[in-house]
Amino acid sequence: SDPDPLQDFCVADLDSAAGTNGFPCKPLAAVTSDDFFFDGLSTEGDTGNVIGSSVASANVLTFPALNTLGLSMNRVDVAPGGLNPPHSHPHASELILVVEGRLLVGFVGSAGNRFFSKVLGPGENFVVPKGLVHFQYNVGEVKAVAVTAFDSQLPGVVVAAPTLFGATPPIPDEVLAKAFQVDQKTVAMIKSKFER
Ligand code: GLV
Ligand code: MN
Repeated sequence: SDPDPLQDFCVADLDSAAGTNGFPCKPLAAVTSDDFFFDGLSTEGDTGNVIGSSVASANVLTFPALNTLGLSMNRVDVAPGGLNPPHSHPHASELILVVEGRLLVGFVGSAGNRFFSKVLGPGENFVVPKGLVHFQYNVGEVKAVAVTAFDSQLPGVVVAAPTLFGATPPIPDEVLAKAFQVDQKTVAMIKSKFER
Protein backbone atom coordinates (compact mmCIF):
# COMPACT_ATOMS: atom_id res chain seq x y z
CA SER A 1 0.00 0.00 0.00
CA ASP A 2 2.99 2.30 -0.46
CA PRO A 3 2.82 4.93 -3.24
CA ASP A 4 3.71 3.83 -6.78
CA PRO A 5 7.30 4.34 -7.98
CA LEU A 6 7.98 7.01 -10.62
CA GLN A 7 10.99 5.18 -12.13
CA ASP A 8 12.28 1.61 -12.66
CA PHE A 9 14.07 1.59 -9.35
CA CYS A 10 15.51 3.87 -6.72
CA VAL A 11 18.04 1.92 -4.67
CA ALA A 12 17.99 3.68 -1.32
CA ASP A 13 20.89 5.82 -0.25
CA LEU A 14 20.46 5.07 3.45
CA ASP A 15 23.26 7.47 4.41
CA SER A 16 21.71 10.54 2.84
CA ALA A 17 20.91 13.31 5.26
CA ALA A 18 18.03 14.50 3.06
CA GLY A 19 14.68 14.19 4.81
CA THR A 20 12.18 12.70 2.36
CA ASN A 21 9.22 10.32 2.40
CA GLY A 22 11.32 7.16 1.90
CA PHE A 23 14.94 7.48 0.82
CA PRO A 24 16.71 9.30 -2.02
CA CYS A 25 18.17 7.17 -4.83
CA LYS A 26 21.75 5.98 -5.06
CA PRO A 27 23.31 7.40 -8.27
CA LEU A 28 22.39 5.19 -11.24
CA ALA A 29 26.03 4.67 -12.28
CA ALA A 30 26.78 3.20 -8.86
CA VAL A 31 24.00 0.60 -8.97
CA THR A 32 25.04 -3.02 -9.65
CA SER A 33 23.40 -6.46 -9.71
CA ASP A 34 24.45 -6.94 -6.10
CA ASP A 35 22.06 -4.18 -5.06
CA PHE A 36 19.14 -6.39 -6.12
CA PHE A 37 20.36 -9.44 -4.18
CA PHE A 38 19.81 -10.18 -0.48
CA ASP A 39 20.61 -13.32 1.50
CA GLY A 40 19.64 -12.10 4.97
CA LEU A 41 16.74 -14.56 5.23
CA SER A 42 18.83 -17.61 4.35
CA THR A 43 19.90 -18.55 7.85
CA GLU A 44 17.85 -19.98 10.69
CA GLY A 45 16.97 -17.41 13.36
CA ASP A 46 18.01 -17.86 17.00
CA THR A 47 14.90 -18.80 18.97
CA GLY A 48 16.77 -19.18 22.28
CA ASN A 49 14.92 -16.31 24.00
CA VAL A 50 11.97 -16.00 26.43
CA ILE A 51 9.37 -16.04 23.67
CA GLY A 52 11.02 -18.73 21.55
CA SER A 53 10.93 -16.91 18.23
CA SER A 54 12.91 -14.65 15.97
CA VAL A 55 12.13 -12.46 12.96
CA ALA A 56 14.57 -11.46 10.20
CA SER A 57 13.54 -8.69 7.82
CA ALA A 58 14.16 -7.93 4.17
CA ASN A 59 12.92 -4.36 4.16
CA VAL A 60 14.27 -1.09 2.79
CA LEU A 61 16.62 -0.71 5.76
CA THR A 62 18.32 -4.09 5.24
CA PHE A 63 17.77 -4.35 1.47
CA PRO A 64 17.89 -0.82 0.03
CA ALA A 65 16.74 -1.90 -3.48
CA LEU A 66 13.23 -2.23 -2.02
CA ASN A 67 13.02 1.57 -1.79
CA THR A 68 9.85 2.82 -3.60
CA LEU A 69 8.81 -0.72 -4.63
CA GLY A 70 6.10 -1.18 -2.00
CA LEU A 71 7.03 -4.63 -0.78
CA SER A 72 9.11 -6.46 1.81
CA MET A 73 9.44 -9.87 3.45
CA ASN A 74 10.26 -11.47 6.80
CA ARG A 75 11.48 -14.86 7.87
CA VAL A 76 9.92 -16.03 11.14
CA ASP A 77 11.48 -18.91 13.10
CA VAL A 78 9.45 -20.31 16.01
CA ALA A 79 10.59 -23.04 18.39
CA PRO A 80 8.03 -25.64 19.58
CA GLY A 81 5.78 -23.77 22.03
CA GLY A 82 7.32 -20.47 20.93
CA LEU A 83 5.38 -17.34 20.04
CA ASN A 84 5.83 -14.41 17.69
CA PRO A 85 3.93 -12.16 20.10
CA PRO A 86 0.87 -10.00 19.32
CA HIS A 87 1.85 -7.05 17.14
CA SER A 88 0.59 -4.94 14.26
CA HIS A 89 2.06 -3.31 11.15
CA PRO A 90 0.82 0.26 10.67
CA HIS A 91 1.82 0.43 6.99
CA ALA A 92 1.07 -2.99 5.49
CA SER A 93 -1.09 -6.07 5.16
CA GLU A 94 0.76 -9.33 5.75
CA LEU A 95 0.57 -12.55 3.75
CA ILE A 96 1.94 -15.52 5.72
CA LEU A 97 3.26 -18.74 4.18
CA VAL A 98 4.22 -21.56 6.52
CA VAL A 99 7.24 -23.37 5.09
CA GLU A 100 7.89 -25.85 7.89
CA GLY A 101 6.05 -26.96 11.04
CA ARG A 102 2.60 -26.00 12.37
CA LEU A 103 1.61 -22.49 13.42
CA LEU A 104 -1.58 -21.14 14.96
CA VAL A 105 -1.91 -17.75 13.28
CA GLY A 106 -4.61 -15.25 14.11
CA PHE A 107 -5.66 -11.62 14.17
CA VAL A 108 -8.37 -9.58 15.84
CA GLY A 109 -10.60 -7.36 13.72
CA SER A 110 -11.40 -3.79 14.69
CA ALA A 111 -15.17 -4.35 14.46
CA GLY A 112 -16.42 -6.26 17.50
CA ASN A 113 -12.99 -7.64 18.43
CA ARG A 114 -13.59 -10.83 16.46
CA PHE A 115 -10.68 -13.27 16.53
CA PHE A 116 -9.94 -14.98 13.22
CA SER A 117 -7.44 -17.83 13.34
CA LYS A 118 -6.25 -21.01 11.71
CA VAL A 119 -3.60 -23.68 12.26
CA LEU A 120 -1.36 -23.74 9.18
CA GLY A 121 0.96 -26.42 7.88
CA PRO A 122 3.60 -26.29 5.14
CA GLY A 123 2.49 -24.48 2.00
CA GLU A 124 -0.57 -22.90 3.60
CA ASN A 125 -1.34 -19.18 3.64
CA PHE A 126 -3.14 -16.79 5.95
CA VAL A 127 -3.60 -13.08 5.43
CA VAL A 128 -3.57 -10.38 8.09
CA PRO A 129 -5.27 -7.16 6.98
CA LYS A 130 -3.33 -3.93 7.42
CA GLY A 131 -2.91 -2.59 10.94
CA LEU A 132 -4.59 -5.45 12.83
CA VAL A 133 -3.05 -7.17 15.87
CA HIS A 134 -1.84 -10.72 15.08
CA PHE A 135 0.54 -13.45 16.26
CA GLN A 136 2.01 -16.83 15.32
CA TYR A 137 2.21 -19.63 17.89
CA ASN A 138 3.99 -22.93 17.30
CA VAL A 139 1.50 -25.68 18.19
CA GLY A 140 3.62 -28.44 16.65
CA GLU A 141 6.30 -30.74 18.01
CA VAL A 142 9.04 -29.37 15.78
CA LYS A 143 10.38 -25.95 14.88
CA ALA A 144 8.32 -23.85 12.49
CA VAL A 145 9.44 -21.51 9.74
CA ALA A 146 7.20 -18.98 8.02
CA VAL A 147 7.76 -16.39 5.33
CA THR A 148 5.70 -13.21 5.52
CA ALA A 149 5.23 -10.77 2.65
CA PHE A 150 4.13 -7.15 3.00
CA ASP A 151 2.80 -4.48 0.65
CA SER A 152 5.18 -1.87 2.03
CA GLN A 153 8.94 -1.35 1.88
CA LEU A 154 8.84 -0.76 5.64
CA PRO A 155 5.68 -2.18 7.29
CA GLY A 156 6.61 -0.90 10.74
CA VAL A 157 5.89 -2.97 13.82
CA VAL A 158 4.07 -2.18 17.04
CA VAL A 159 4.50 -5.04 19.53
CA ALA A 160 1.59 -4.88 21.97
CA ALA A 161 3.20 -5.84 25.29
CA PRO A 162 6.46 -3.82 25.15
CA THR A 163 4.62 -0.87 23.57
CA LEU A 164 2.45 -0.55 26.65
CA PHE A 165 4.65 -2.00 29.41
CA GLY A 166 8.12 -1.09 28.14
CA ALA A 167 7.62 2.44 26.79
CA THR A 168 10.33 5.06 27.39
CA PRO A 169 9.57 7.12 29.40
CA PRO A 170 7.10 4.73 31.05
CA ILE A 171 3.31 5.06 30.74
CA PRO A 172 2.05 5.82 34.30
CA ASP A 173 1.08 2.68 36.28
CA GLU A 174 -2.36 4.12 37.03
CA VAL A 175 -3.12 4.41 33.31
CA LEU A 176 -2.26 0.77 32.67
CA ALA A 177 -4.00 -0.38 35.89
CA LYS A 178 -7.24 1.28 34.71
CA ALA A 179 -6.89 0.02 31.15
CA PHE A 180 -6.28 -3.60 32.17
CA GLN A 181 -8.53 -3.46 35.26
CA VAL A 182 -5.81 -4.74 37.58
CA ASP A 183 -3.97 -3.20 40.54
CA GLN A 184 -0.79 -1.15 40.16
CA LYS A 185 1.31 -3.96 41.71
CA THR A 186 0.32 -6.21 38.83
CA VAL A 187 1.26 -3.46 36.37
CA ALA A 188 4.65 -3.02 38.03
CA MET A 189 5.24 -6.77 37.87
CA ILE A 190 4.49 -6.89 34.15
CA LYS A 191 6.56 -3.74 33.53
CA SER A 192 9.56 -5.39 35.18
CA LYS A 193 9.57 -7.98 32.37
CA PHE A 194 9.91 -5.28 29.72
CA GLU A 195 12.47 -2.98 31.34
CA ARG A 196 15.27 -2.11 29.02
C1 GLV B 1 4.90 -11.92 11.36
O1 GLV B 1 3.84 -11.62 11.88
C2 GLV B 1 5.79 -10.94 10.81
O2 GLV B 1 5.51 -9.75 11.06
O3 GLV B 1 6.75 -11.29 10.10
MN1 MN C 1 3.41 -9.49 11.53
